[in-house]
Amino acid sequence: MQNKHLLKLLDLSREEIYEILDLADQLKYERKHNIPHEILKGKTLAMIFSKNSTRTRVSFETGMFQLGGHALFLANSVSQIGRGEPVQDTTRVLSRYCDGIMIRTYDQEEVEGLAAYGTIPVINGLTDFAHPCQVLADLMTIREYKAKLEGLKICYIGDGNNMANSIIVGGLKCGMDVSIATPKGYEPDQRVLDFAKTVTDAKFFLTNDPMEAAQGADAVFTDVWASMGQEGEKAEREHAFVGYQINDRLLSVAKPDCMVQHCLPAHRGEEITEEVLEAHANEIFDEAENRLHAQKAVLALLMR
Ligand code: CP
Ligand code: NVA
Repeated sequence: MQNKHLLKLLDLSREEIYEILDLADQLKYERKHNIPHEILKGKTLAMIFSKNSTRTRVSFETGMFQLGGHALFLANSVSQIGRGEPVQDTTRVLSRYCDGIMIRTYDQEEVEGLAAYGTIPVINGLTDFAHPCQVLADLMTIREYKAKLEGLKICYIGDGNNMANSIIVGGLKCGMDVSIATPKGYEPDQRVLDFAKTVTDAKFFLTNDPMEAAQGADAVFTDVWASMGQEGEKAEREHAFVGYQINDRLLSVAKPDCMVQHCLPAHRGEEITEEVLEAHANEIFDEAENRLHAQKAVLALLMR
């Protein structure tokens, strides 16, 4: 892998994404067959969290352990970051103790700043702009079920948020057609839309009509209507997102074997119905499991 960091999927080539996915498949196989892979013995990952997490924290921490290394949890409430120590100082300090940093925060610039000032790899564990680790796990899961990525059509229904941004970039980079349905005013980030315009070997389609977006889809994604940090907009968003839901009616226009993916946590009855979530639970919890394997691949490629 050429990149020293995983800050956003925009930075990765198609080859680098496939390198991660291939190693993730291998590490998953080895784990299932009790084949040890202590690639990061003696190495430490600092994990900075400015937002809540279940999957990201647990999968990175257990992933580091399985790779023979160690992970430490730095919540803002207990570190000097929470008291305002500048990111450029934090990263230079952590670079003297640790071998990698994983950070979940609000501003993408904070993550880019850590990478610019530090000397160790930085991994984006979610910002308002991107969720690259999640989408690597999603691509891994789709490839497991469909045996390929290129030529498939994926669809995302809902907020043009960090997940939408990363699905567009990851999907297009892997040669998949990507269609997105958002309400007016909730479109994906302009940098991502600009990237989509440059892609020549896959199609990108943006609409306000979920049924139009889901036509013939091989996999349909959604995410919460109000992300972390948007709690104050909850009521307004509940109104704006009515109809932006994965339900049986929406799936009736997708391919008969269409997969459903949700990064979780899910809000049943909002962006997805209880029935659809439970009917597609295997795919959705495989997706959650694959966070572990995909991130172990990223850690191994960046930190070994
Ligand atoms: N999907 C995801 O990132 O989950 P957590 O917020 O629990 O880490
Ligand atoms: N868009 C959601 C994803 C959570 C994993 C958020 O940012 O809160």
